[in-house]
Amino acid sequence: MAAEQFDIVILGAGSGGYACALRAAQLGQRVGLVEKDKLGGTCLHRGCIPTKALLHSAELADAAREGEKFGVKTSLEGIDLGGVHSYKDGVVGRLHKGLQGLVKGAEAVTYVEGEGRLTSPTTVTVGDRELVGEHIVLATGSYAKTLPGMEIAGRVMTSDQALGLAEIPQRAIVLGGGVIGVEFASVLRSFGAEVTVVEALDRLVAAEDPAVSKQLERAFRKRKITAKTGAKVASVSQDDSAVKVELEGGETLEADLLLVAVGRGPSTEGLGYEEAGIPLERGFVITDERLRTGVGNVRAVGDIVPGPQLAHRGFAHGIFVAEDIAGLEPQPVQDHLIPKVTYCDPEIASVGLSEEQAREQYGEGVSTYEYNLGGNGKSQILGTAGFIKLVRSGEDGPVVGVHMVGARMGEQVGEAQLIVGWEALPEEVAALIHAHPTQNEALGEAHLALAGKPLHAHA
Ligand code: NAI
Repeated sequence: MAAEQFDIVILGAGSGGYACALRAAQLGQRVGLVEKDKLGGTCLHRGCIPTKALLHSAELADAAREGEKFGVKTSLEGIDLGGVHSYKDGVVGRLHKGLQGLVKGAEAVTYVEGEGRLTSPTTVTVGDRELVGEHIVLATGSYAKTLPGMEIAGRVMTSDQALGLAEIPQRAIVLGGGVIGVEFASVLRSFGAEVTVVEALDRLVAAEDPAVSKQLERAFRKRKITAKTGAKVASVSQDDSAVKVELEGGETLEADLLLVAVGRGPSTEGLGYEEAGIPLERGFVITDERLRTGVGNVRAVGDIVPGPQLAHRGFAHGIFVAEDIAGLEPQPVQDHLIPKVTYCDPEIASVGLSEEQAREQYGEGVSTYEYNLGGNGKSQILGTAGFIKLVRSGEDGPVVGVHMVGARMGEQVGEAQLIVGWEALPEEVAALIHAHPTQNEALGEAHLALAGKPLHAHA
């Protein structure tokens, strides 16, 4: 069969791959987009979207429980897990359909269903089809890791299986207190389970500023979620009645299910990358800042490139590569400017440097300010606790980090990102009026305080 010729052949149609395909098509390139599973990848089918739907159901459950606090007589009758799944699957289904329409509508994109393999630096082979591209983009994403010797079966599952839970466990153990761990711990608790999080490091969400971890741990304690930090697993066993997790030191925990959330690994094995000479380190594809692998015109985007494994980084990578190939000379994606949101209750949102990272980079002149949401009207109305922590590079320097925790704080990350990305001075942000009463106002207040003129706070 004759080889099919494209300007760009993309292996994987998740966030990185499809964004690259759509942008490249806009720029007049002929694209071959290869996907073995579903268009949209992890984010749409097994990650961001379905988990946030679960978290929304969880939020409603808590609101029903807590109505009385606000003078509204409600009580939680129960969780109809079937109903939760059909709501969640409906959201995913509608977005999937929309995305399929977008790809179909992009005439320059040939969508190829099937498992592709890199068979040369210019070729992806899918069954008996050979797709030849002047450029190749590897966008094969990531998978849920497990621990050596720990089989994912029965009561032991990753987020992939937990998304389709048939019943709510009475007791759950979450192994790993990172992003997936705390989000699922939050959902399971809201749905009524007793939850214990086991984390090897000395704090939850260790990638965040330590002050944020402390606040989350406090909030989780209040929600009666047990967090065992600095805890290492010695062994795991299961039978018909329970799963047992033995910790180093001897303590044994027992539950109905164990959710393993110990990170995501790059999906790069068995795809012909090694044979083609693509540089790999611990399975990740090593690239330069323009996401080139150094092998022919092969680039890599998204979770297989070391850095934060976030869908919006994948989108940004995909768009960058399409524009770079088209000669638009776009700015490379900078990992430290990528906003992060963790949707547990309370929510966590951050962008830029933690205090410690800022001190490493800028020295002792770094200053910080923590604005307590206790002084923010809207947060009081919602009944949430938390704070916004600003990190400034020096006496007269810009804000280089914003760290937030509290209900709905994820929605504030947009302005935080502009502040850090545009290297704004606190005085500049303080001069802009923030609407009252909003939670957004807390960002304005924090900058007022850092600029030396606090209103609803002490200096
Ligand atoms: P993660 O790297 O965030 O957290 C894994 C945690 O497991 C770490 O804290 C690690 O110390 C701990 N751990 C590892 N081995 C352990 C062991 N043997 N015993 C106890 N603890 C152990 O990875 P996670 O949560 O699996 O998420 C994977 C990726 O997916 C992350 O990069 C995350 O950014 C992304 N993601 C993003 C979301 C968002 O943006 N809201 C939501 C969910 C995932």
